[in-house]
Amino acid sequence: MMTGFRSGTYAGLVLCMTLWMSSGKAEAKSGMQHKNFGKTHDGQSAELYILTNKNGMQAEVTNYGATLVALRVPDRDGKLGDVILGYDNVAGYEGGTAYFGATVGRYANRIAHAKFTLDGKAYTLAKNDGENTLHGGATGFNKRFWTAEDVSSDAGAALQLTYLSKDGEEGYPGNLNITVTYSLPADRKELRIEYRATTDKDTVINVSNHAYYNLAGQGNGDILKHELTLYASRFTPVDQTLIPTGELREVKGTAFDFTKPAAIGARIDHDDQQLKYGKGYDHNWVLDHKAKDPLAPAAEAYDPQSGRVLEISTTEPGVQFYSGNFLDGSIHGKEGKVYGHRFAFCLETQHFPDSPNHPDFPTTVLKAGQHFHSVSVYRFSTRK
Ligand code: GLA
Repeated sequence: MMTGFRSGTYAGLVLCMTLWMSSGKAEAKSGMQHKNFGKTHDGQSAELYILTNKNGMQAEVTNYGATLVALRVPDRDGKLGDVILGYDNVAGYEGGTAYFGATVGRYANRIAHAKFTLDGKAYTLAKNDGENTLHGGATGFNKRFWTAEDVSSDAGAALQLTYLSKDGEEGYPGNLNITVTYSLPADRKELRIEYRATTDKDTVINVSNHAYYNLAGQGNGDILKHELTLYASRFTPVDQTLIPTGELREVKGTAFDFTKPAAIGARIDHDDQQLKYGKGYDHNWVLDHKAKDPLAPAAEAYDPQSGRVLEISTTEPGVQFYSGNFLDGSIHGKEGKVYGHRFAFCLETQHFPDSPNHPDFPTTVLKAGQHFHSVSVYRFSTRK
């Protein structure tokens, strides 16, 4: 290859460029880098796409599970740190059960007794969480290969992932065509995740991103001192299997009140039946959306140690705040980090759990021919 350069011939340069462009290290179109992310047990190769912006933010996304693998943002001294949990290769995600960074669906969160009725017809789903179905069933969106396309533009780096969930997959009706677009707007410190879907039969849909955040950096201790705000004056209390009872309960005067910033650990061990059921926080908050604002604030988290702040806005009516209660030190994640108890929190923007069985909750029905659209924005900054 170097001969071409040394001889200075045009033909040599063209050959060199052609070899470079087909090497798989960079895409010809806009230059989004990608690399091999290893193979699944049946030999399928996964790719890892790297999105960057001028503000020094970096996101890594794999086409396996349309999963957010890494998210690097500066701390108050400008030092980049990866603030989400995950694995070093696709094998970790294939074997994992924690949904790290994944796109969860067709129905994120739980559906009671793995059953629902739509248009007078009963549908049966997989029971993969006791008697209930959780996060799409036995093989949810998080365990599927998606088709990735670099859709970057002057507005920023963007990766679009597409998946066709066939009629009857995991028991859900309708061929559902879904795209998830991850983007890093050029001029801001934020990650935007946008979901679009259509179906050819009436179905239900609830999609979310299941990133586990630790603003001090992944693997760097527990998140109990992170200060959390939830823009929600009510939450949906649950039974012992984490299915909402149907009540929308005021948070005022309870350990569930995050309307003003509070350390995650401050009340997590309170003598409260709801905290016992969740083994900590594992509940859906009802966001105080103003009807006129389609993208409204959902949550803010601040880590006093690193100074990093995460603000989440969403078009969704709810957010599942999960305090990493099932993490127990048995998972060895990225760079060999061990993920101990409550080493991360999730803020899953979503419709309420078990909505298909609660006609009074905001509907999760997507009718044939309708367009589903949902956006969540994760904005980063720092505080002294
Ligand atoms: C969600 C659920 C939790 C747990 C995690 C994954 O947040 O609500 O109960 O299943 O996913 O471990």
